[in-house]
Amino acid sequence: MSTISQEQSAVMTPPASRPFPQGFLLGAATAAYQIEGAAFEGGRTASIWDAFARVPGAVINGDTGDVACDHYHRYRDDVALMKDLGLDTYRFSTSWSRVRPGGGALNPTGVDFYERLVDELLDAGIIPWLTLYHWDLPQALEERGGWTARETADRFTEYALDLHDALGDRVHHWTTLNEPWCSSFLSYTAGIHAPGRFSTGDGLLAAHHLLLGHGRTVRELRARDASLSLGITLNLTGAEAADPSDPADRDAARRIDGQFNRWFLDPIFRAAYPGDIVDDLERVDPDAVARWREAVQPGDVATIAQPLDALGVNYYHNEFVGGRPDPNPPTPGDAPTDRETGSPWPVGHDIHWHERGLPRTSMHWEVQPAGLTALLERVWTEYAQPVGTALYVTENGAAYDDELVVEDGEPRVHDTERTQFLLGHLGAVLDAREAGVDVRGYFYWSLLDNYEWAWGYEKRFGIVRVDYDTQQRTLKDSAREYRRVIAERAMTP
Ligand code: NOJ
Repeated sequence: MSTISQEQSAVMTPPASRPFPQGFLLGAATAAYQIEGAAFEGGRTASIWDAFARVPGAVINGDTGDVACDHYHRYRDDVALMKDLGLDTYRFSTSWSRVRPGGGALNPTGVDFYERLVDELLDAGIIPWLTLYHWDLPQALEERGGWTARETADRFTEYALDLHDALGDRVHHWTTLNEPWCSSFLSYTAGIHAPGRFSTGDGLLAAHHLLLGHGRTVRELRARDASLSLGITLNLTGAEAADPSDPADRDAARRIDGQFNRWFLDPIFRAAYPGDIVDDLERVDPDAVARWREAVQPGDVATIAQPLDALGVNYYHNEFVGGRPDPNPPTPGDAPTDRETGSPWPVGHDIHWHERGLPRTSMHWEVQPAGLTALLERVWTEYAQPVGTALYVTENGAAYDDELVVEDGEPRVHDTERTQFLLGHLGAVLDAREAGVDVRGYFYWSLLDNYEWAWGYEKRFGIVRVDYDTQQRTLKDSAREYRRVIAERAMTP
């Protein structure tokens, strides 16, 4: 008679399946400029991205969003695809330049597109998750100062209220801004995103006016309808010191945490900008800080700190940094570039990214699902839990150099790395739930391959492949796996 040791029996017992909690939302995300195309149809006029994409050298291959995934014309097919995947929810953004071309009067044709999209989603049983600003400011407003002008915050609220007039009866989840760090510092200080400015002061003003627009819009929407779910989405990151015992490395991590996370979390949740970062900035660029101090008017931070129902966390990777260069630097091509880090940021001058041997995506971003668990725990404990704001992972995804193959006459993409990435991060979200974090949903970025901003069409994040010549959509293996997870409502081995 054979006996089974404890170790053998552990090997033979299949790992338990991990169910998603009741009501947990599984979805996917996109953004208007990255997928819609039809850039000059239906009364839409130029946004800052239409202009920036035409600046020589600003975007790889000079790619523009003129056609993108042609979603404007193919939205019905795309919603059918979402239904086939079983998505609970779909996060999309509305184009300000469609709804209020030039930031001015309402354009009924533009609004009509979003009405049809929302109706199509609701008919398919998919919850619409609407983001009002995913970086595509009307160019006419940029010409009046863009986000450095306080007036832009007023125009933003007007645009939001117009959309609420049209969609408020059907859309429950409203996100004001997507990743304001990108639409301020990456855009107005580092010049890597539209409008491509290079000024510390402009970045600071832009961030403040974006946040002001957020706060006012939340206040107005709440006053109109207290039942709405209102939130903001931030690009948050875990800042890890290469050597936690080294003060220079710890200081690099502090500044990363300050610029990416606390510069936005603190005013939103605590009605105050982080003093240590203000001090750092003052040492580096006192004129910029003086301009910013003048722009922050009495009452502004209180306006910014509106109670929120939802905080959207966009997580891609952590930052592993030191105060001195890495003695074993990343292999050439693996070091993050300015395009990825947003440097030079004023207090980022002597931050150095270190190599620790984690796998990387084709953006050269590290793959570290446990970083998501830790980030959610931190944001929950320090910011969201005390005021009862729920967390949602509103973006998480990976670009890989996918290969299209034809098998039995069918196009296929065996994107094993993306599938593992997706499963790993879903598991990380469940880990956070188990640790007590109130995280209620996960959106993969992105539903479709699309226009990856300064990288043009070169980087593919989709679980659905887009052939940009034919506009044919092909479910990658990751989409098939996601469909299985959603259908089983569990992570099964
Ligand atoms: C965050 C942005 O919100 C999205 O637009 C972008 O494509 C992804 N990150 C990937 O870089």
